[in-house]
Amino acid sequence: MDSVNDNGSQNIYDNQVFFDGYRKLRENPDSSNVLEEKPALFSLSPDLTGLSVLDLGCGYGENCAEFKRRGAWKVVGVDISEKMLSIAKTENTGIEFINADMSDLSFITAKFDVVFSSLAIHYVKDFARFAKSVAALLNPGGYFIFSQEHPLTTAPLAGASWTRDVSGIALHYNLTDYARGGKRSTTWIVDGVVKYHRTFSELINALTDCGFMIEKLSEPVPTEETILRLPAYAQDLHKPNFLLIKAIKSQPMS
Ligand SMILES: C[S@@+](CC[C@H](N)C(=O)[O-])C[C@H]1O[C@@H](n2cnc3c(N)ncnc32)[C@H](O)[C@@H]1O
Repeated sequence: MDSVNDNGSQNIYDNQVFFDGYRKLRENPDSSNVLEEKPALFSLSPDLTGLSVLDLGCGYGENCAEFKRRGAWKVVGVDISEKMLSIAKTENTGIEFINADMSDLSFITAKFDVVFSSLAIHYVKDFARFAKSVAALLNPGGYFIFSQEHPLTTAPLAGASWTRDVSGIALHYNLTDYARGGKRSTTWIVDGVVKYHRTFSELINALTDCGFMIEKLSEPVPTEETILRLPAYAQDLHKPNFLLIKAIKSQPMS
Protein backbone atom coordinates (compact mmCIF):
# COMPACT_ATOMS: atom_id res chain seq x y z
CA MET A 1 0.00 0.00 0.00
CA ASP A 2 2.71 2.52 0.89
CA SER A 3 4.46 2.52 -2.50
CA VAL A 4 6.02 5.85 -3.45
CA ASN A 5 7.51 7.18 -6.70
CA ASP A 6 11.12 8.38 -7.17
CA ASN A 7 10.24 11.75 -5.58
CA GLY A 8 8.90 9.99 -2.47
CA SER A 9 5.29 10.83 -3.46
CA GLN A 10 2.38 8.45 -3.06
CA ASN A 11 -0.93 8.68 -4.94
CA ILE A 12 -3.17 7.43 -2.14
CA TYR A 13 -6.19 9.49 -3.22
CA ASP A 14 -6.55 7.23 -6.28
CA ASN A 15 -6.97 4.22 -3.99
CA GLN A 16 -10.76 3.58 -4.19
CA VAL A 17 -11.22 2.77 -0.49
CA PHE A 18 -9.25 5.85 0.55
CA PHE A 19 -11.03 8.02 -2.03
CA ASP A 20 -14.49 6.95 -0.81
CA GLY A 21 -13.55 7.38 2.85
CA TYR A 22 -12.04 10.81 2.24
CA ARG A 23 -15.13 11.93 0.29
CA LYS A 24 -17.29 11.01 3.28
CA LEU A 25 -15.05 13.00 5.66
CA ARG A 26 -15.19 16.05 3.40
CA GLU A 27 -19.01 15.88 3.16
CA ASN A 28 -19.20 16.50 6.94
CA PRO A 29 -20.09 20.20 7.45
CA ASP A 30 -18.52 20.02 10.92
CA SER A 31 -15.13 18.71 9.76
CA SER A 32 -12.00 20.47 10.99
CA ASN A 33 -11.34 21.45 7.37
CA VAL A 34 -14.54 23.45 7.30
CA LEU A 35 -14.43 24.82 10.86
CA GLU A 36 -10.70 25.48 11.27
CA GLU A 37 -8.51 25.13 8.17
CA LYS A 38 -10.51 26.91 5.43
CA PRO A 39 -11.31 30.06 7.46
CA ALA A 40 -7.64 30.31 8.48
CA LEU A 41 -6.40 29.79 4.91
CA PHE A 42 -8.65 32.46 3.44
CA SER A 43 -7.87 34.87 6.27
CA LEU A 44 -4.27 34.81 5.04
CA SER A 45 -5.20 35.50 1.41
CA PRO A 46 -4.36 38.86 -0.14
CA ASP A 47 -6.93 40.57 -2.33
CA LEU A 48 -6.84 38.28 -5.40
CA THR A 49 -8.42 40.73 -7.84
CA GLY A 50 -6.49 40.53 -11.11
CA LEU A 51 -3.89 38.09 -9.76
CA SER A 52 -2.75 34.73 -11.10
CA VAL A 53 -2.98 31.80 -8.68
CA LEU A 54 -1.47 28.33 -8.62
CA ASP A 55 -3.02 25.76 -6.26
CA LEU A 56 -0.78 22.77 -5.49
CA GLY A 57 -2.60 19.62 -4.36
CA CYS A 58 -5.91 21.20 -5.38
CA GLY A 59 -8.09 18.11 -4.85
CA TYR A 60 -11.70 18.71 -5.88
CA GLY A 61 -10.80 22.29 -6.85
CA GLU A 62 -12.97 23.87 -4.15
CA ASN A 63 -10.31 26.41 -3.24
CA CYS A 64 -9.59 27.13 -6.93
CA ALA A 65 -13.25 28.06 -7.37
CA GLU A 66 -13.04 30.38 -4.35
CA PHE A 67 -9.90 32.04 -5.76
CA LYS A 68 -11.87 32.78 -8.95
CA ARG A 69 -14.80 34.11 -6.94
CA ARG A 70 -12.33 36.40 -5.19
CA GLY A 71 -11.26 37.92 -8.49
CA ALA A 72 -8.20 35.92 -9.64
CA TRP A 73 -7.94 36.26 -13.43
CA LYS A 74 -6.13 32.94 -13.86
CA VAL A 75 -6.26 29.85 -11.64
CA VAL A 76 -4.29 26.65 -12.23
CA GLY A 77 -4.75 23.58 -10.03
CA VAL A 78 -2.28 20.69 -9.82
CA ASP A 79 -2.97 17.30 -8.29
CA ILE A 80 -1.39 13.86 -8.45
CA SER A 81 -4.78 12.12 -8.23
CA GLU A 82 -6.81 11.52 -11.39
CA LYS A 83 -9.88 10.73 -9.30
CA MET A 84 -9.72 14.02 -7.39
CA LEU A 85 -9.18 15.94 -10.63
CA SER A 86 -12.05 14.21 -12.40
CA ILE A 87 -14.37 15.73 -9.77
CA ALA A 88 -12.55 19.07 -9.99
CA LYS A 89 -13.05 19.17 -13.77
CA THR A 90 -16.72 18.20 -13.53
CA GLU A 91 -17.53 20.78 -10.87
CA ASN A 92 -15.51 23.77 -12.12
CA THR A 93 -15.15 25.78 -15.30
CA GLY A 94 -12.59 28.40 -16.28
CA ILE A 95 -9.84 26.73 -14.25
CA GLU A 96 -6.92 24.78 -15.70
CA PHE A 97 -6.30 21.47 -13.93
CA ILE A 98 -3.04 19.55 -14.37
CA ASN A 99 -2.51 15.95 -13.29
CA ALA A 100 1.04 15.91 -11.93
CA ASP A 101 3.25 15.37 -8.90
CA MET A 102 3.85 18.73 -7.19
CA SER A 103 7.17 17.45 -5.84
CA ASP A 104 8.70 18.26 -9.21
CA LEU A 105 7.36 21.55 -10.58
CA SER A 106 9.68 21.70 -13.58
CA PHE A 107 6.67 21.20 -15.91
CA ILE A 108 5.35 24.68 -15.03
CA THR A 109 6.85 27.51 -17.04
CA ALA A 110 4.46 30.39 -16.18
CA LYS A 111 4.96 32.71 -13.20
CA PHE A 112 2.25 33.35 -10.62
CA ASP A 113 1.34 36.08 -8.13
CA VAL A 114 0.18 33.66 -5.45
CA VAL A 115 0.89 29.97 -4.86
CA PHE A 116 -1.51 28.26 -2.46
CA SER A 117 -1.35 24.74 -1.14
CA SER A 118 -3.96 23.41 1.24
CA LEU A 119 -3.23 20.26 3.24
CA ALA A 120 -0.91 18.65 0.69
CA ILE A 121 2.60 19.74 1.69
CA HIS A 122 2.96 17.05 4.35
CA TYR A 123 2.91 14.61 1.41
CA VAL A 124 6.04 16.19 -0.14
CA LYS A 125 9.32 14.53 0.80
CA ASP A 126 11.89 17.23 0.06
CA PHE A 127 10.47 20.50 1.37
CA ALA A 128 13.66 22.52 0.82
CA ARG A 129 13.69 21.65 -2.89
CA PHE A 130 9.95 22.23 -3.13
CA ALA A 131 10.15 25.68 -1.48
CA LYS A 132 12.92 26.66 -3.87
CA SER A 133 10.86 25.67 -6.90
CA VAL A 134 7.81 27.53 -5.57
CA ALA A 135 9.98 30.65 -5.12
CA ALA A 136 11.14 30.30 -8.73
CA LEU A 137 7.50 30.23 -9.93
CA LEU A 138 6.51 33.40 -8.10
CA ASN A 139 6.65 36.95 -9.38
CA PRO A 140 8.67 39.27 -7.09
CA GLY A 141 6.52 40.18 -4.10
CA GLY A 142 4.38 37.09 -4.69
CA TYR A 143 2.92 35.04 -1.88
CA PHE A 144 3.29 31.39 -0.94
CA ILE A 145 0.44 30.48 1.41
CA PHE A 146 0.00 26.95 2.66
CA SER A 147 -1.59 24.79 5.30
CA GLN A 148 -0.37 21.42 6.47
CA GLU A 149 -1.00 18.96 9.25
CA HIS A 150 0.45 20.48 12.40
CA PRO A 151 4.06 19.32 13.08
CA LEU A 152 2.91 18.03 16.48
CA THR A 153 0.42 15.82 14.61
CA THR A 154 2.93 14.46 12.12
CA ALA A 155 5.64 13.86 14.76
CA PRO A 156 4.85 10.48 16.41
CA LEU A 157 6.32 7.55 14.48
CA ALA A 158 3.44 5.36 15.69
CA GLY A 159 0.78 7.91 14.65
CA ALA A 160 -0.99 10.65 16.59
CA SER A 161 -2.55 9.52 19.90
CA TRP A 162 -4.15 10.97 23.03
CA THR A 163 -4.37 10.08 26.70
CA ARG A 164 -8.03 10.28 27.75
CA ASP A 165 -9.98 9.96 30.99
CA VAL A 166 -12.60 7.22 31.49
CA SER A 167 -15.26 9.35 29.83
CA GLY A 168 -13.09 9.84 26.75
CA ILE A 169 -12.11 13.46 27.43
CA ALA A 170 -8.61 14.26 26.12
CA LEU A 171 -6.19 14.87 29.00
CA HIS A 172 -3.11 15.37 26.89
CA TYR A 173 -1.59 14.66 23.52
CA ASN A 174 1.15 12.03 23.41
CA LEU A 175 3.98 13.87 21.71
CA THR A 176 6.93 11.71 20.68
CA ASP A 177 9.64 11.77 17.99
CA TYR A 178 9.28 15.51 17.30
CA ALA A 179 12.95 15.95 16.39
CA ARG A 180 13.02 12.83 14.18
CA GLY A 181 12.15 14.35 10.81
CA GLY A 182 11.23 12.19 7.83
CA LYS A 183 8.79 9.63 6.52
CA ARG A 184 5.73 8.50 8.45
CA SER A 185 3.65 5.53 7.35
CA THR A 186 0.30 6.10 9.05
CA THR A 187 -3.19 4.69 9.25
CA TRP A 188 -5.76 7.24 8.11
CA ILE A 189 -8.80 5.72 6.37
CA VAL A 190 -6.44 2.94 5.14
CA ASP A 191 -3.07 1.62 6.32
CA GLY A 192 0.19 2.76 4.78
CA VAL A 193 -0.56 6.43 4.09
CA VAL A 194 2.82 8.12 3.59
CA LYS A 195 3.41 11.60 5.03
CA TYR A 196 6.54 13.53 5.97
CA HIS A 197 7.23 15.09 9.34
CA ARG A 198 9.20 18.34 9.63
CA THR A 199 9.94 20.46 12.65
CA PHE A 200 9.04 24.15 12.73
CA SER A 201 12.69 25.11 12.28
CA GLU A 202 13.08 22.89 9.21
CA LEU A 203 10.02 24.48 7.59
CA ILE A 204 10.91 28.07 8.43
CA ASN A 205 14.61 27.74 7.54
CA ALA A 206 13.79 26.11 4.19
CA LEU A 207 11.59 29.10 3.36
CA THR A 208 13.98 31.83 4.48
CA ASP A 209 16.93 30.05 2.81
CA CYS A 210 15.33 30.62 -0.59
CA GLY A 211 14.40 34.25 -0.12
CA PHE A 212 10.98 34.09 1.54
CA MET A 213 10.04 36.36 4.42
CA ILE A 214 7.49 34.91 6.82
CA GLU A 215 4.58 37.31 7.05
CA LYS A 216 2.26 35.30 9.28
CA LEU A 217 1.85 31.91 10.97
CA SER A 218 -1.50 30.53 12.02
CA GLU A 219 -2.44 27.55 14.22
CA PRO A 220 -6.24 27.79 14.14
CA VAL A 221 -8.29 26.52 17.06
CA PRO A 222 -12.05 26.08 17.31
CA THR A 223 -14.22 29.00 18.32
CA GLU A 224 -16.03 28.98 21.68
CA GLU A 225 -19.28 28.49 19.77
CA THR A 226 -17.84 25.39 18.08
CA ILE A 227 -16.67 23.92 21.40
CA LEU A 228 -20.09 24.54 23.00
CA ARG A 229 -21.84 22.84 20.07
CA LEU A 230 -19.23 20.11 19.50
CA PRO A 231 -17.33 19.53 22.81
CA ALA A 232 -14.87 17.04 21.27
CA TYR A 233 -13.24 20.03 19.56
CA ALA A 234 -11.91 21.20 22.96
CA GLN A 235 -8.95 18.84 22.50
CA ASP A 236 -7.61 21.10 19.75
CA LEU A 237 -6.75 23.60 22.50
CA HIS A 238 -4.11 21.07 23.65
CA LYS A 239 -2.78 20.59 20.12
CA PRO A 240 -3.98 22.45 17.03
CA ASN A 241 -4.73 20.34 13.94
CA PHE A 242 -3.13 22.63 11.40
CA LEU A 243 -0.20 24.93 10.75
CA LEU A 244 -0.52 27.66 8.13
CA ILE A 245 2.27 29.85 6.81
CA LYS A 246 2.06 32.99 4.69
CA ALA A 247 5.42 33.80 3.11
CA ILE A 248 6.32 36.58 0.70
CA LYS A 249 9.01 36.34 -1.97
CA SER A 250 11.20 39.16 -0.82
CA GLN A 251 14.07 38.96 -3.27
CA PRO A 252 14.60 37.57 -6.77
CA MET A 253 15.96 34.01 -6.87
CA SER A 254 19.68 33.86 -7.63
C1 LIG B 1 -6.22 16.66 1.95
S1 LIG B 1 -6.40 16.79 0.22
C2 LIG B 1 -6.63 18.55 0.06
C3 LIG B 1 -7.30 18.95 -1.22
C4 LIG B 1 -7.51 20.47 -1.40
N1 LIG B 1 -6.27 21.20 -1.35
C5 LIG B 1 -8.44 21.00 -0.34
O1 LIG B 1 -7.97 21.61 0.62
O2 LIG B 1 -9.66 20.80 -0.48
C6 LIG B 1 -4.76 16.57 -0.38
C7 LIG B 1 -4.63 16.59 -1.89
O3 LIG B 1 -3.24 16.62 -2.21
C8 LIG B 1 -3.03 15.78 -3.31
N2 LIG B 1 -1.62 15.36 -3.31
C9 LIG B 1 -0.99 14.58 -2.41
N3 LIG B 1 0.30 14.41 -2.77
C10 LIG B 1 0.47 15.11 -3.92
C11 LIG B 1 1.58 15.32 -4.79
N4 LIG B 1 2.77 14.77 -4.54
N5 LIG B 1 1.41 16.09 -5.88
C12 LIG B 1 0.20 16.65 -6.15
N6 LIG B 1 -0.89 16.47 -5.38
C13 LIG B 1 -0.75 15.72 -4.27
C14 LIG B 1 -3.99 14.63 -3.10
O4 LIG B 1 -4.20 13.89 -4.27
C15 LIG B 1 -5.21 15.37 -2.58
O5 LIG B 1 -6.06 15.77 -3.63
